[in-house]
Amino acid sequence: MAGERGHFGTRLGFILAAAGSAVGLGNVWKFPYLAGENGGAVFLFIYLGFILTIGLSVMLAEFAIGRRAQRNPVGAFKALKGGPWVAVGGMGVFCGFIILSFYSVVGGWTVAYAVKSATGLLANGDAKALGNAFGGFIGDPVEPLIYHALFMAVTMAVVAKGVHGGIERVCRVLMPVLFVLLVVLCIRSVTLPGAGAGIAFFLEPDFSKVNGAMVTAALGQAFFSLSLGMGAMITYGSYLSAKVSLPGAALWVTSLDTLIAVMAGFMILPAVFAFGFDPGAGPGLTFITLPAVFSQIPGGAFFGTLFFVLLAVAALTSAFSLIEVVVAYLVDERGIRRFQAAMGAGFVIFILGIPSSLSFGVWSSYTVAGKNFFDIMDYLASNLMLPAGGIFISLFAGWVAFPKLMEAGEGGIEKSFRLARIWQAICRYVAPVAIAWTLINGL
Ligand code: TRP
Repeated sequence: MAGERGHFGTRLGFILAAAGSAVGLGNVWKFPYLAGENGGAVFLFIYLGFILTIGLSVMLAEFAIGRRAQRNPVGAFKALKGGPWVAVGGMGVFCGFIILSFYSVVGGWTVAYAVKSATGLLANGDAKALGNAFGGFIGDPVEPLIYHALFMAVTMAVVAKGVHGGIERVCRVLMPVLFVLLVVLCIRSVTLPGAGAGIAFFLEPDFSKVNGAMVTAALGQAFFSLSLGMGAMITYGSYLSAKVSLPGAALWVTSLDTLIAVMAGFMILPAVFAFGFDPGAGPGLTFITLPAVFSQIPGGAFFGTLFFVLLAVAALTSAFSLIEVVVAYLVDERGIRRFQAAMGAGFVIFILGIPSSLSFGVWSSYTVAGKNFFDIMDYLASNLMLPAGGIFISLFAGWVAFPKLMEAGEGGIEKSFRLARIWQAICRYVAPVAIAWTLINGL
């Protein structure tokens, strides 16, 4: 069976694909607006704490489970233990539907903004007008849905053909370009007149402001940004051959993802203050702030277009990993052909995304506890299901499958992994307790 599955060509190819999954809208769109809503620096520091203590270990656990089992999340839990653990994989597959449904809506926004930047949106440099333009766009009942459909269509087409080959090559070229553009935009943002207040907001924590909801949001964001808790990294690990060092790969992917989130913070938050926007503006923050930054640099229309194209590509590489969990499950466990699986799952996800898109316009008045449909999907997946998945994945790696995961030569973690005992202790105690405590506090 393992022979029929595709495999990543090289260690670098795997790291790039996993980093491609991790780096996406979570870093550039979600992290800055969550930091803006949740006290800036406080959020940053709690987030970094979760990445170091929990994120890194859960990522290693997912890679190890996937490579050892060579299966999708459901099949992996079945193969390594079975029983009720299989439900953890099942929840992951379910999460793939939920997350991609709203992720694709925002992915569509980035595609739309690439088009709009190229066709004159940025010519009007007035920050307030740019803010209103965004509100008008996402509130429209039709236009964002067309881009949502386009985003899903590309995702389905690529995943229908199999994850590797093309993607590895595309990421290798485009992601470094995105990185360079991020650096340039950070520099522009922090040197804007009035940016100082934003830098202080992002770097000087006021720990008296900490509350349960904020800590839950930081934990949820750590899982979301690293693509953890639903088996995406189990699935990618399953396409890995025994040669690659898993702890090294986990460290690389985690570091890259964190670096890019922090850079996105420096790109957005100082500019938010410089232009007098509200840091708590929510999901639109990046999309109202960035065009204002572009209107302040020479060749803004060109760089704006390029940036949104690259961000759309980064979003696509994340979307592939989300739908791949569902597709791998349908292919491995249900014997459905890859093409049919990708088309079927993609269609359901597209439909599920429609109410999320409409919740910024015609359906914005349907709310529960102040949350619209989009917010509820995001909250359920990111703040509840991913951390819950993280608890079970940690417990499974630490208590149930640890000996199997460590078996050298069988696709396990190499014997020479000196921190194995510490990793096991984190999986057994630290991560489950910290996550459970955070979840309970947040409610
Ligand atoms: N991590 C991606 C981002 O930051 C989103 C993503 C891809 C994801 N795969 C995932 C989130 C699996 C949770 C689980 O944009």
